[in-house]
Amino acid sequence: MKMPFSGRGHITIIKEIAQGLHKAGFLNRYLELGVRQGNCFNAVAPLSTEAYAVDTRNYHKHIKQNKNLIWNHMTTSEFLKNHDPKRKFDLVFIDADHSYKGSLDDFKSVLPLVNDNGIILLHDTYPPSEEFTSSDFCSDTYKTAEYIRNNFDKECEIVTLPFYFGISIVRKISLGKQLLWLGDK
Ligand SMILES: C[S@@+](CC[C@H](N)C(=O)[O-])C[C@H]1O[C@@H](n2cnc3c(N)ncnc32)[C@H](O)[C@@H]1O
Repeated sequence: MKMPFSGRGHITIIKEIAQGLHKAGFLNRYLELGVRQGNCFNAVAPLSTEAYAVDTRNYHKHIKQNKNLIWNHMTTSEFLKNHDPKRKFDLVFIDADHSYKGSLDDFKSVLPLVNDNGIILLHDTYPPSEEFTSSDFCSDTYKTAEYIRNNFDKECEIVTLPFYFGISIVRKISLGKQLLWLGDK
């Protein structure tokens, strides 16, 4: 299989988004679902006040240098079921179970835990060809991006960047409003 991108291309984009949120004063809590060796997590965590990591495998030693780390060695569904809804996230990276069902369940569970104007990112939503849709690669997470576009248009806006295997950027919008600061005007 010819690899059109490196495995880490997505990290530059995600870090840039985190930097933008940080400079705008929006990045308090970061959550990464599926951290593996922390390549992305370690780039983003220093830009946030609290950085939550979730993985079923014990990657703690790869990310423990982050002083603001809140490590959760468990499944994403266990974590999301028990997280305090008062402690909402500003940036979430969904990158754990890449199946349609798994990633959609993660999305539906995390959405109520995200602040207005918060960003949810999904990776592997634009596999460059059919062979990349196998379960050991991008799987069928792209269907989750499609589902969000078709079913969450009142609560979210979404765009998928068709490179680095696909990065979908979802912004949670309050009552369909473009500007958070406009309130009820
Ligand atoms: C693609 S890797 C994450 C890569 C990382 N986000 C990055 O960009 O460097 C997926 C990770 O999700 C974890 N994972 C898969 N299914 C999971 C689940 N249901 N709950 C928690 N972690 C899961 C795996 O152990 C693996 O470490």
